[in-house]
Amino acid sequence: MPICLAILVSGRGSNMKAILQAIEEGRLDARATVVFSNNPQAPALAAALALGVPVESVGHRGLSREDHETRLLETLSRYPVDYVVLAGYMRVLTSSFLQHFHHQDGYFRIVNIHPSLLPAFPGANAYEEAFAYGVRLSGITIHLVDEKVDHGPILAQEAFARLEEDTFDDFKARGLSVEHRLYPQVLQSIALQGIRLLPSDQPSFYQETKSK
Ligand code: GRF
Repeated sequence: MPICLAILVSGRGSNMKAILQAIEEGRLDARATVVFSNNPQAPALAAALALGVPVESVGHRGLSREDHETRLLETLSRYPVDYVVLAGYMRVLTSSFLQHFHHQDGYFRIVNIHPSLLPAFPGANAYEEAFAYGVRLSGITIHLVDEKVDHGPILAQEAFARLEEDTFDDFKARGLSVEHRLYPQVLQSIALQGIRLLPSDQPSFYQETKSK
């Protein structure tokens, strides 16, 4: 049975497209049941529509965080959703939202991708900050979402180099190509085996991602 994904986006949606393409090509045993945006103008929405995926949006301007989340939950409740997939969704989710997607042991069925080797460079400008810092190695993290920003049990991390001659655009393009490969792989691992937690005496857990 394919897993049902609600993909949340705010902008361009290149990760969303990589996920939808992986589904289309049979590399990801999932169904994108809805793509939701807090930005009705997000280019990702048009891209999802063009690929035949239902889209929904509720702009957050003028709404309190709670009211916006209530509208988001109402929207998601109209679709089957096993996992919420954040793909460049630029809103912090409250603890009360997370509870609606409770998994077990206090974890939630909400996955995020972040373009750094967390805990380094959390926040909205990770590529810029890592490049400006002069890192020789950066990376991509895919993790379960918890109450803190860009924080939670790590599902996968992959490093990539910053080369001597790299412009910022080169650096970011290298990272994005890792993002677009890794996110579908991790979701496929979840589709095949669910989210596997280590025994509860372990302080954290790590799920091996398998390359195809
Ligand atoms: C990606 O770099 C992702 O890691 C971060 O936001 C960016 C979204 O890009 N969370 P896109 O909308 O998927 O192209």
